[in-house]
Amino acid sequence: MERLTTASSVRFRLREARKAEQVIGYVPTMGALHEGHLSLIRQAGSECGTVVVSVFVNPTQFNDAADLEAYPRDLARDAALAEEAGADLLFAPEAGEMYPEGFQTHITPGALAKPLEGHFRPGHFEGVCTVVAKLLNIVQPDRAYFGEKDWQQLKVVERMVLDLNLPTAIVSVPTVREPDGLAMSSRNARLSPDARERARVIPYLLDTAQELLESATTETRTDSGPVLRQWLVSLLESHQPAAQVDYIAVMDPETLHEINEIRDRALVAIALHIGGVRLIDNRIITAPPR
Ligand code: PAF
Repeated sequence: MERLTTASSVRFRLREARKAEQVIGYVPTMGALHEGHLSLIRQAGSECGTVVVSVFVNPTQFNDAADLEAYPRDLARDAALAEEAGADLLFAPEAGEMYPEGFQTHITPGALAKPLEGHFRPGHFEGVCTVVAKLLNIVQPDRAYFGEKDWQQLKVVERMVLDLNLPTAIVSVPTVREPDGLAMSSRNARLSPDARERARVIPYLLDTAQELLESATTETRTDSGPVLRQWLVSLLESHQPAAQVDYIAVMDPETLHEINEIRDRALVAIALHIGGVRLIDNRIITAPPR
């Protein structure tokens, strides 16, 4: 696996792959690689001739300086894991390469970026869209892989690619979970043993949401979305009253509008602070056929 730090060297190196008509797959990351990232890299490897992975802790998508500061960084470890998972090229630029002196052009996403993370992390998706557009311009991949754990990010990026006619197919990859259901995240490493135990409430709520939707009482109601949401809030209060809730939402998975009546599918999205660590997760729940 080659390691490169400049946009021009990535472009130059990928010329050969393009000449050889190889499909170029790309996995953008902020490092601290875990099994979730590795599944993206492996899937890219199974579908593409050349796999590029980037590691760049993008400062513009952090609205909290302490969060940026605390973000784990270990490039040697990330490089070893990416290579083992099948990456051919690792792009790990410095901040100055991505945001040179005088940088002043940003991408502002629309309505999809407003609720959920957009509400609690102002400016986050502007930072994500700007860096993803830049990275896609540098790598110019045929396919770029994004995890469903960050469902809103996936939808915002899909929309941006469509709106800006970027010639890359966005491939979504299911969330990888720990054996007890907790979604893989670089933030999990910050959980104390006690908080890690308490974090199990998140997959519990998501699984219960599916079960509740399957029960006759919710599926027939015209207000099944708000009812389900209220049940989840009450369940959380009874199981983990100390958890601080940013949101528990029941939404249309594509528009991210709140749903009143769940007719077929709904996104249940959760963001909680547990033991001082902010965790997000989601699940698409499906109503039984009527
Ligand atoms: O999902 C992430 O790790 C980041 O938001 C991304 C897509 C690499 C952009 O910095």
